Amino acid sequence: MQSNNCRQTAAACNKLGLECYVYLTRAAHNDDVQGNLLLDHLLGAHITIIDTPLGPALDDLLFARAKELRAAGRRPFVWDRVTGRPIAAVSYALALAETLAQARALGVQPTHLYCAAAGATGAGLAIGKAILGWPGKVRLMCPIRWPWDTPKDLAEVGNATAALLGLPRRITAADIDIRDDYIGEGYGVVTPGSREALALLARTDGVLLDPVYTGKAMAGLIDDARHGRLGAKDQVVFIHTGGTPAVFAYRNELMGQSGE
Ligand SMILES: Cc1ncc(COP(=O)(O)O)c(C=O)c1O
Repeated sequence: MQSNNCRQTAAACNKLGLECYVYLTRAAHNDDVQGNLLLDHLLGAHITIIDTPLGPALDDLLFARAKELRAAGRRPFVWDRVTGRPIAAVSYALALAETLAQARALGVQPTHLYCAAAGATGAGLAIGKAILGWPGKVRLMCPIRWPWDTPKDLAEVGNATAALLGLPRRITAADIDIRDDYIGEGYGVVTPGSREALALLARTDGVLLDPVYTGKAMAGLIDDARHGRLGAKDQVVFIHTGGTPAVFAYRNELMGQSGE
């Protein structure tokens, strides 16, 4: 129910004059019309709240709904795991190229790049690194435990992305540096590390993270710095993937602990 992806898609659809149907999995912690869900309403998306878990069963539901729309004479595009993710990943392959170009212009040579990634984002960065031949490390922090082999899945999506771009480069699971150490209890559950990362960035740089994705990824970066997995000479780029609206759906978790 706090999908940033769906909210952004609804906004982009409006810009393009497309009708957007979002299928949102019921959030166990809080089903208030808040954060991204509130924005989905404001954006006028067709919202259906479902209990289907993330994964293949959700794709089946989307296909069934698309069939109904097709039967009614509409032309739906289904953002399923197979079709949607390589398209999304193209943007993150381009984002890596853009980031490195900006770093070059600033005279900075990044050695590491950190990002919250569960699928397309990570796949795009990994295939982007391979295509560009960038020698730095792309460290992906996964916010969710998938019921499948995540590195293998990301390599497959990355390869579909390269195919979509008409480029010959291919990667394997060994090229995917992804960790699930900062998920905590589960997807969408606030961890002490993500809460600390949110407060630290807000209070030092005035940058707002979200507790589900960027907060956990930043918790991983902080942990690597504390435990010597990043050195003083390393030049680290953190890709902020957005997600700020979700903060408002985590009011209780975020306020409860700090008491401020
Ligand atoms: C804020 C934010 N960061 C990162 C991601 C990870 O994206 P992906 O699943 O494409 O890797 C998401 C996914 O929805 C997100 O909302």
